Amino acid sequence: MGGPSTAAAIPRNVIVTGLQWGDEGKGKVVDVLARRSRLVVRFQGGNNAGHTLVVDGRKLVLHIVPSGILNPDTRCVVANGVVVDPQVLCQELDDLSAWGVEIGSDRLVISDQAHIIMPYHRTLDSCREAVLGGDKIGTTQKGIGPCYEDKVARRGLRVVDLLDPDALRRHLQAVLPDKNRQIVDWYGDAGHTLDDLLCWAAPLAQRLRPYVADTVSLIHQAKADHQPMLFEGAQGTFLDVDHGTYPFVTSSNTVAGQACAGSGIGPTDIHAVVGIVKAYTTRVGAGPFPSELHDDLGTHLRDIGHEYGATTGRPRRCGWFDATLVKHGVRLNGTTHLVLTKLDVLSGLETLQIGVGYDSSASTLPASASALPASAEAVAAVVPTYQSMPGWTQDITACRTWKSLPATARAYVQRIESLVGVPVAMISVGPGRKQVIVRDPLFGVAPD
Ligand code: GDP
Ligand code: IMO
Ligand code: MG
Repeated sequence: MGGPSTAAAIPRNVIVTGLQWGDEGKGKVVDVLARRSRLVVRFQGGNNAGHTLVVDGRKLVLHIVPSGILNPDTRCVVANGVVVDPQVLCQELDDLSAWGVEIGSDRLVISDQAHIIMPYHRTLDSCREAVLGGDKIGTTQKGIGPCYEDKVARRGLRVVDLLDPDALRRHLQAVLPDKNRQIVDWYGDAGHTLDDLLCWAAPLAQRLRPYVADTVSLIHQAKADHQPMLFEGAQGTFLDVDHGTYPFVTSSNTVAGQACAGSGIGPTDIHAVVGIVKAYTTRVGAGPFPSELHDDLGTHLRDIGHEYGATTGRPRRCGWFDATLVKHGVRLNGTTHLVLTKLDVLSGLETLQIGVGYDSSASTLPASASALPASAEAVAAVVPTYQSMPGWTQDITACRTWKSLPATARAYVQRIESLVGVPVAMISVGPGRKQVIVRDPLFGVAPD
């Protein structure tokens, strides 16, 4: 594994992860990379993700189905590490059909080992957030946390059980009294009945059955056939349950290492790790965000960048690019290539700021620190130090070559490269599939 790709040695199996707090543009980048991938594999998270693809001016938001699905030669895999809400997945298949793409088992495969998000997981997610009041995490309320809790506690329901009516009934009989005790007695909400859940599950199981398979064997067959594979991360590095700004995180590991556990491939079969970063920073939900802008500039970035959650519609908090954060993200993921997205959103700003360090006098952070402190309170006290850079006024959304970018935009990209220590292999200058500047053969051939 290592540095920029040469035409002679384009990495075969690639992991894509976000290096900030999610919504970096992973969906768009995976769609671009899907052209060279025979399998695109989601390996963690669930429908808390919202991955946006814009093709020929039409927008599609995917929540569970991998972002390679619009490439007809790509097979998409929902692997064992994902938590699947079958109702949401069926809805997504309907949405894709309305888009004009019929999805059969030749296009989508779901792991029999993936865990199922049940209606009581969704209920518990929203009940728990409600009682936290002002201290809430700001989850997507899709049931992600409660489902992963059951997985780790060894009382979860998996796809294989959903497909077996007897196993499903036995499982529900075992867990439902406890779920209802929590929902009804603790939170005062409406409980779920066994009959309602069985009626809910039966048609969903029937519809999903043809897609279910042993995805570990599928992935290893692709490996034996030397077929390029892409592992699509969801959320972002600082939402990782271990490495993120705990407890303001999601309930899965989001870093590149999880691609292996979450799909059944070994680390030695990975050849490159692509890290996606926005040219600035956003975060949706609660939690510390050192480079957040609380002024008109933050509002400007939200307006120009259309920074509203693809899953929940909530406004995203916006701030400057934080190179210290991203550099730490690079370490956590083993990132070999960067993709810088939404550079076009910065057009028109006279001066840009890049967070180049953290002010140790303003927090408990030692001057030598290259990682965030462990406690969320300490992260909230971190004050970035900034370097000013001149901006550019030109609209760059039609730029397709490095040379055609304004000199100040090139300088901004180069400064990020030198601060973070990884080359920017592709730049995205608009939401559309073709709005990219390719700088590395991994992403195709760069126009002159
Ligand atoms: P993901 O969760 O990482 O896939 O990202 P989201 O889809 O949640 O959010 C990224 C948003 O930015 C989507 O609305 C994309 O269509 C849009 N987007 C992606 N790349 C660019 C870009 O380079 N410029 C602009 N203006 N929008 C972009
Ligand atoms: P993509 O894949 C941005 C955030 C939520 C909340 C926290 C926990 O589109 O980048 P959860 O529902 O996971 O328990 O919520 O994580 N969050 C995301 N933020 N992008 C995402 O996914 C996110 N998925 C979860 O807002 O702060
Ligand atoms: Mg998103």
